[in-house]
Amino acid sequence: DYMNRIRNFCIIAHIDHGKSTLADRMLVRTKTIGDREMRDQVLDNMELEQERGITIKSHAIQMDHVYNGEEYKLNLIDTPGHVDFSYEVSRSIKACEGALLIIDATQGIQAQTISNLYLAIEHDLEIIPVLNKMDLPNAIPEVVEDQIIDLIGCKREDIIHASGKTGMGAETILERIIEKVPPPKGDPNAPLQALIFDSVYNSFRGVIAYFKIINGQLRTKDLVKFVNTDKEYNADEIGVLKLGLNPRDMLSAGDVGYIISGIKTAKEVKVGDTITHVENPCPKAVSGYEEVKPMVYAGIYPVDADDYEDLRAAMDKLQLNDASLTFEPEASAALGFGFRCGFLGLLHMEIIQERLEREFDMNVITTVPNVSYMAHLTDGSTLKVYNPSGMPPSTSLDNIEEPFIRASIITAADYIGPIMNLCLDKRGELVNQNYLTSERAELIFNLPLGEIVFDFYDKLKSISRGYASLDYYVSGYKEAKLVRLDILLNGEMVDALSTLIHFDNAYPFGRRMCEKLKELIPRQQFDIAIQAAVGSKIIARETVKAMRKDVTAKCYGGDITRKRKLLEKQKKGKKRMKQVGNVEVPQNAFLAVLKMD
Ligand code: GTP
Repeated sequence: DYMNRIRNFCIIAHIDHGKSTLADRMLVRTKTIGDREMRDQVLDNMELEQERGITIKSHAIQMDHVYNGEEYKLNLIDTPGHVDFSYEVSRSIKACEGALLIIDATQGIQAQTISNLYLAIEHDLEIIPVLNKMDLPNAIPEVVEDQIIDLIGCKREDIIHASGKTGMGAETILERIIEKVPPPKGDPNAPLQALIFDSVYNSFRGVIAYFKIINGQLRTKDLVKFVNTDKEYNADEIGVLKLGLNPRDMLSAGDVGYIISGIKTAKEVKVGDTITHVENPCPKAVSGYEEVKPMVYAGIYPVDADDYEDLRAAMDKLQLNDASLTFEPEASAALGFGFRCGFLGLLHMEIIQERLEREFDMNVITTVPNVSYMAHLTDGSTLKVYNPSGMPPSTSLDNIEEPFIRASIITAADYIGPIMNLCLDKRGELVNQNYLTSERAELIFNLPLGEIVFDFYDKLKSISRGYASLDYYVSGYKEAKLVRLDILLNGEMVDALSTLIHFDNAYPFGRRMCEKLKELIPRQQFDIAIQAAVGSKIIARETVKAMRKDVTAKCYGGDITRKRKLLEKQKKGKKRMKQVGNVEVPQNAFLAVLKMD
């Protein structure tokens, strides 16, 4: 019957192992795209994604393939590969019955792959292992096969040898998907229950939500309800995703498709939400829905105060297609008017900052990111604080709580020692340590989120040579001895440089902060005192010595065009400077904390 000829699958792969190249091979092989239409990496079509080499937003595409005289529909659901987006990955996996595990035959399994693999196994997905890049002379298939067998317990002959470059293995992969991945289960006659696993924003069509129908049927013009947001819509257009949108009159249990229903902003469509009919709704929503909440906050300010309204317009536009971005107006004594923004993580923050600069040509200053805190005041009230400079003075504070995460770190046995040290250094508590194989262990730590938003992930990667993966969820708030550390430039406090820090770390941190700022702030016409303070107590100081600089001195003779060029260059350089009191502070100084070692 109908459902028996549907296969829904995703791809689990480490960055650069060839996910996009192999997916393209399958698309060409199934004639989903013609050779002529073939662009490099059809699946990651955002410029930014290509440059960063990660798939930021998941997409889906349907291929038709004939096998033993029967035509099958293969739905490939693409997944992002970064911990900031792990909730989206989990929803995509939930929409599938199988997963291709693609491993670079010259590299072997990387830890990053493992946590997504576990997620897939947890959801009972059929795993199809593929060794890619078999065309390369330095491929070590036996070694990598041993790793795969060790990890998922498959047979050696189950591992497909492939090459995205030559096309080797593409047909076998398609056949294996049809043979091994079970067709979707579900009842087409039950009330409609569809899982939203992604959404995209299109400036002409509004928000397009991608879903998989678990049970029931959906027709064009049906009146539907999104269960968790409790909003009703008309299904103006439904269809399947090929290279573009292919409208259909009806979709049924097992199908992966899209719906356009006049939704104008991404906020209304929540990944993980359930679509059902207003009449005859399903008794239960799809399980596992979570509201994604920002984890990290930072201020974003225009370098030029006149650009404030443009910045607001740009943020509004970004939010239309990125529901996980939040922002509200904020004023800083040092930086003027801007916005306090909430992000899923540091990568998300960097992406937003880059998009503001590239797509909207905005020149912005981003302040040091921080987490949110609970301030319990002496009068018994509680205040949620999103900005260190908004922390009430210690005289009115009873105690501060900070968010904690439960982190799972999977690594090779060799790196356990250094990773333990890193976590303990970040005020972590070891909860558990399990050996997954003789070579691979999982460490469970409770860690303050505030300690890991800075450079934890980068440090983890570098001390493990990339051979460690991190997954975490916020487990709750805990009281901590935190103090507010302020920075003063020539005696004036710069609110945008305030941080909350554990009392025991305040002195060394203040000292390093002053040293770093001394490196970053250029000499000016007068001495600049850089001080770190906790409350009214100065705990560190550095001085940037005065220097009289004459930029035109470098122009020998009187070549006026050279002189002008030099002055213009200096003016451009200045654009990235912010006047704080009488001191000019370069943009990157506001992120000094991130650059400290
Ligand atoms: P992300 O989208 O960044 O996660 O990477 P990906 O896993 O999609 O990898 P991608 O397909 O972009 O391939 C990474 C690099 O490996 C590219 O330079 C490809 O040209 C190359 N590549 C992919 N498959 C093969 C292969 O089978 N053989 C060889 N020689 N190179 C390959």
